[in-house]
Amino acid sequence: MREKIDSFSVKFLTGLFALGVLSLGMLLGEFQARAASGSLFQHFEDIEMTTHEGKRVRFYEDLIKGKVVSINFIYTRCSDSCPAETAKLREVYERLGDRVGRDIFMYSISVDPQHDTPEALNSFAKKFKIGPGWTFLRAEESDVERIEKHFGLDLDSDEFDDPDDHNISLVLGNERTGQWIKRSPFDNPGALARILGYRLFDGMVAQNTVKSYSEAPEAPSLSAGAFLFKTRCESCHTLGGGETLGPDLLGVTTRRDPAWLARWIREPDRMIEEGDPLALKLYREYRELAMPNLRLEDSEVEALVEYLTEADRERGLVPVPPRQARLH
Ligand code: HEC
Repeated sequence: MREKIDSFSVKFLTGLFALGVLSLGMLLGEFQARAASGSLFQHFEDIEMTTHEGKRVRFYEDLIKGKVVSINFIYTRCSDSCPAETAKLREVYERLGDRVGRDIFMYSISVDPQHDTPEALNSFAKKFKIGPGWTFLRAEESDVERIEKHFGLDLDSDEFDDPDDHNISLVLGNERTGQWIKRSPFDNPGALARILGYRLFDGMVAQNTVKSYSEAPEAPSLSAGAFLFKTRCESCHTLGGGETLGPDLLGVTTRRDPAWLARWIREPDRMIEEGDPLALKLYREYRELAMPNLRLEDSEVEALVEYLTEADRERGLVPVPPRQARLH
């Protein structure tokens, strides 16, 4: 009996010891792996992708390894969230200036690879006047899914059947230090630029080398219309600052009927679909970049029209009174 117990405890202890060694080994392994590259990508099998310029690249080796990057997911047929998201990120891109492509790299991966050929992605990038350093990418569906899973972004529903369900997240990271941060592309562009241009560099870059920190905190006295304009429209429009992605809206109330203006702001996609002549004319003039339906409430549309009308009046311009549509 005693012998039995002894042999049992020896076996038990040996087992325990072996387990200990094993888990210690695993711990050390993980530690070394992290220390070696600080990477979330340990054991990550590389993924073949094609850029909007038709170049074949590998996701990890060519795009991520050793770099500070931003990654988001879009598809080019999407009429609301993706254009709004891309226009917002373009503000970040502008703020970082020529650092994008040099020490910061931006990637937008299509969740609709069936339709998003490199040509489709290229024309999308052109519509948004996107230059070097920001790459649009296509990969096989299952590979895109793997990337999303890797960042903890995969969804329950099948986004490839309905890309409208795609994840509106932005991942910012430094592969070298292993720091990864999840954000929304609709966050304040100045804050996103600070993360990409400064925080992820672990103090290796002086804060003032980020192109601009000029954005002041939201003034508490901003009217509802002004606030909406700043947060929802300014990525594509100015008021007197010239054309950006869309037309300069200074004077817009002097040339458009208020009812047309309100409907356009509420559902530009429907008006283009219905073939409204003015909507189509604008759409063609602006590189077929469709203004997104921003899902605004009626009260928000009203506040915006009021804001645009006031902005014109303040500059001595005379808005078109209601019911005098002059479509030209
Ligand atoms: C993603 C970019 C984008 C965003 C965001 C956006 N627009 Fe536009 N907007 C456009 C484009 C591009 C056009 C030109 C028509 C077209 O191509 O669809 C346009 C056209 C317009 C026009 C018609 C101008 C004219 O001459 O008649 C108005 C008014 C307008 N936008 C208001 C707004 C307002 C208000 C917001 C915010 C609530 C907004 N837009 C947000 C891109 C955008």
